[in-house]
Amino acid sequence: MTRKRPEDLRSHRWLGVADLRAFGHRSRMQQMGYDRADFGGKPVIGIINTWSEINACHGHLRERAGDVKRGILEAGGFPIELPAMSLAEPFVKPSTMLYRNFLAMECEELLRSHPIDGAVLMGGCDKTTPGLVMGAVSMGIPAIYIPAGPMLRGNWRGEPLGSGSDAWKYWDEKRAGRIGEDDWNEIEGGIARSFGTCMVMGTAATMMAIAEALGLALPGASSIPAVDANHQRMAAAAGRRIVDMVWDDVTPDKILTPAAFDNAIKVHMAMGGSTNAIIHVVAMARRAGIPIGMERFDELSREVPVLANVRPSGKYLMEDFYFAGGLRALMAAMKDKLDLSCLTVTGKTVGENIEGARIHISEVIHTLDKPIYGEGATAVLRGNLAPRGCVMKPAAADPRFLKHRGKVIAFEDYNHMAREVERDDLDVTPDHILVLKNGGPKGGPGMPEWGMLPIPRKLVRAGVRDMVRISDARMSGTSYGACILHVAPESYVGGPLAFVRTGDEIEIDVDARRIHLHVSDEELARRKAAWTPPPRHYERGYGAMFFEHIGQADEGCDFDFLQGQAKTPEPEIH
Ligand code: FES
Repeated sequence: MTRKRPEDLRSHRWLGVADLRAFGHRSRMQQMGYDRADFGGKPVIGIINTWSEINACHGHLRERAGDVKRGILEAGGFPIELPAMSLAEPFVKPSTMLYRNFLAMECEELLRSHPIDGAVLMGGCDKTTPGLVMGAVSMGIPAIYIPAGPMLRGNWRGEPLGSGSDAWKYWDEKRAGRIGEDDWNEIEGGIARSFGTCMVMGTAATMMAIAEALGLALPGASSIPAVDANHQRMAAAAGRRIVDMVWDDVTPDKILTPAAFDNAIKVHMAMGGSTNAIIHVVAMARRAGIPIGMERFDELSREVPVLANVRPSGKYLMEDFYFAGGLRALMAAMKDKLDLSCLTVTGKTVGENIEGARIHISEVIHTLDKPIYGEGATAVLRGNLAPRGCVMKPAAADPRFLKHRGKVIAFEDYNHMAREVERDDLDVTPDHILVLKNGGPKGGPGMPEWGMLPIPRKLVRAGVRDMVRISDARMSGTSYGACILHVAPESYVGGPLAFVRTGDEIEIDVDARRIHLHVSDEELARRKAAWTPPPRHYERGYGAMFFEHIGQADEGCDFDFLQGQAKTPEPEIH
């Protein structure tokens, strides 16, 4: 490997040459209190930090950036922190998914437009991981990802509480009248006890693990709880490592190979990861020039069983997973399924990174011969209702719904659904199939997490906790149940979901990967001819741009103009 020289650094064009422009750049550095010796001839490392005061998942990242800087300085680099959109999942409306590509663009352009030689990507709350990775991949300079890490376990009267999962569970208990207002308020105060991401195997934990499995984070980094001192040490180590990555020119394209993506998808399966990961992995892979589709998830899900006993598919929480050995132990337990020769940010292979890793709590991380669930986390179904596919998480569903035929109750949009499910006279049984339209990339807009439709109140009172629900929306990775999601094409653009009516019948066969709407082609054509699309949501601004350029779920929901690998020129420095 040839090491770069200082004059080969990208930042040299801004800071190292002897012209009037470079004089201006250096004088402004000095204005900030830096001597020439602080930055001259050193790799400039951009720390893309998604900290914000309204994002508790990233609440520690402001302080953690200090640890990263310490590492960068120790290794002879020069750190510059660049704040980026924080995308706090609980607060950003209508959906953070509306802004994932916004963050990807911001990350890419922050890196491109400044004198940056290497990037540290700090994120973790759901869309921030794919957003940062997509931007860094398209920029193409060396980059290392620092996962924010999960928050500590929740607690209510000595019982562990899991983010999201237990909120849904106890909300239904409250709707059924089994717990009161005081109980509910106590749960509110106990379910999120520290900074850090959701601590079940939701989208955040899944995507942080996927980034590590891809080779973009230090080994074991994604499992460390946000407030553990090991997290600080990991951040400093990542700071040290990125400096060498710049000298050695370890760029994302050397790490992100088809084999690396297969490793990541297999890890996703073994983790029992979030369905949202499918969209994000497809988008990240396409940025890297690897045209993965949803079918790759389905193929690999049949090869890899679920090993992590973590909610919502299992029993434990991410803190337990960390104590059980974390992702290194899980990857070691499935090493026969992985390509161990893939390069990672350490400069070593996956195999070298997991060498010696062991499972410490066998209840939490299972082995291939004793899995939690025999097949992987995700099934991709196809049929006349979803010609381009839809997804479900069989491990998190009541097994009786894996082969099911039922009558439909169809809702035209979210508000229609929200009103109807509370009606005591709704004509519904546990065998009915609830269908929600207009929750897709354009229809939501932004594909909100509406896919775990509430069980109608009258059934909740009768003790029903699962039924089949179908939509073109996503669902939170912390959710569970027989929810069929990401139906493509979506109803808003005239996908078959748009023409489903109350009283129709739908048949699902997860083993056969089939979903069928029992309505004839002729009748569907008649309904289509009489259909008009709903009005557009946005006429100006980012929303209008989103509407024009967003892709469907099976394509990863990237913007058409951000896909591909056409070379973007380096900025002129005048
Ligand atoms: Fe941020 Fe769940 S809300 S990870």
